[in-house]
Amino acid sequence: MRALYSLLAYAFLVLLVLLGVGVAGLDYLFGVIIPYAAIAIFLAGFVYRILKWAKSPVPFRIPTTCGQQKSLDWIKSSKLESPHSSLGVIGRMALEVLFFRSLFRNTKTSLKDGPKLVYGPTKWLWIGSLAFHWSFLIILIRHLRFFTEPVPYVITLAEHLDGFFQVGLPIVLLTDLIIVAALTFLVLRRLYDAKLRYISLPADYFPLFMILGIAISGILLRYFTKTDIVAAKQLAIGIVTFSPIVPEGLGVMFFIHLFSVSVLFAYFPISKLMHMGGVFLSPTRNLANNNRMKRHVNPWDYPVKLHTYEEYEDEFRDVMKAADLPLEKDS
Ligand code: HEM
Repeated sequence: MRALYSLLAYAFLVLLVLLGVGVAGLDYLFGVIIPYAAIAIFLAGFVYRILKWAKSPVPFRIPTTCGQQKSLDWIKSSKLESPHSSLGVIGRMALEVLFFRSLFRNTKTSLKDGPKLVYGPTKWLWIGSLAFHWSFLIILIRHLRFFTEPVPYVITLAEHLDGFFQVGLPIVLLTDLIIVAALTFLVLRRLYDAKLRYISLPADYFPLFMILGIAISGILLRYFTKTDIVAAKQLAIGIVTFSPIVPEGLGVMFFIHLFSVSVLFAYFPISKLMHMGGVFLSPTRNLANNNRMKRHVNPWDYPVKLHTYEEYEDEFRDVMKAADLPLEKDS
């Protein structure tokens, strides 16, 4: 049901475009105003959430790692697992962000005959996530050709590498196939496994459907409806140079694509997609484990007015004596 609601929510967004652009002709609203609003919400929301997280006090190191920390010279420390230097932290973070290292260690629990509880490795989620995120990134980089004139060489190179199979015309891009396959896997994974289905919320399905919608509408634009690329580029360049225009002949499919992207951007700061920024603020990833090399003093330690037992006894000696209580000093 939750997956269905999310799918219906996305279908409703598509319907809005069909009515707004297809029937009412609100091209300027969907082509300029909504994209600008989405970019503004994205930037403001992203910065707000990062600043809010950055303000959370982290007074101590949180070395919840499984590696040996740096201590005596003759004890071999784990430089990436439990780094004691900034360079090590950068290495650990890079492996996490680029290759999802912690997800690589994902394990699954199953009940075997006996009954016996068995823990084993599971790599499918890691493979699916990596495939999805990398193809998404490459697609975004390739899209920069719409926003730049002249198109930088790296972007053209990315397109050439991506289309190296040279199947059909326009050339089939590898990332288009991979992103759809990976997203389909990520949706089915949640639906197929009863445990995962139970904990999955509409907020888990909705971004998947929305990104799948963006990818499918993009693929339709490239291979089937054959959108007017020059017009799309005019619109994109108009937006980034703050002189927006909506050229003729873009077609409803293009607006479905653009509106889905706009909703994705506006939705980003209020959703779990913020893990993109949040991972950099994770104390178990970004703090060097140098507890044995440096003394970390709680920055909130302020001079507290103490009342020692000696002072206490001095204050209450007479009453304590009268009540026959043991005293350390008689007077
Ligand atoms: C989250 C951002 C976006 C994603 C994930 C995305 C995804 C895709 C995908 C998967 C395709 C299929 C072909 C390809 O891979 O190049 C595509 C095509 C296309 N997209 Fe996007 N897109 C995004 C943003 C945009 C934006 C902002 C525009 C506005 C100019 C746009 C315009 C187009 C056009 C015109 C095509 C057809 C390209 C062609 O015919 O070669 N996309 N998109």
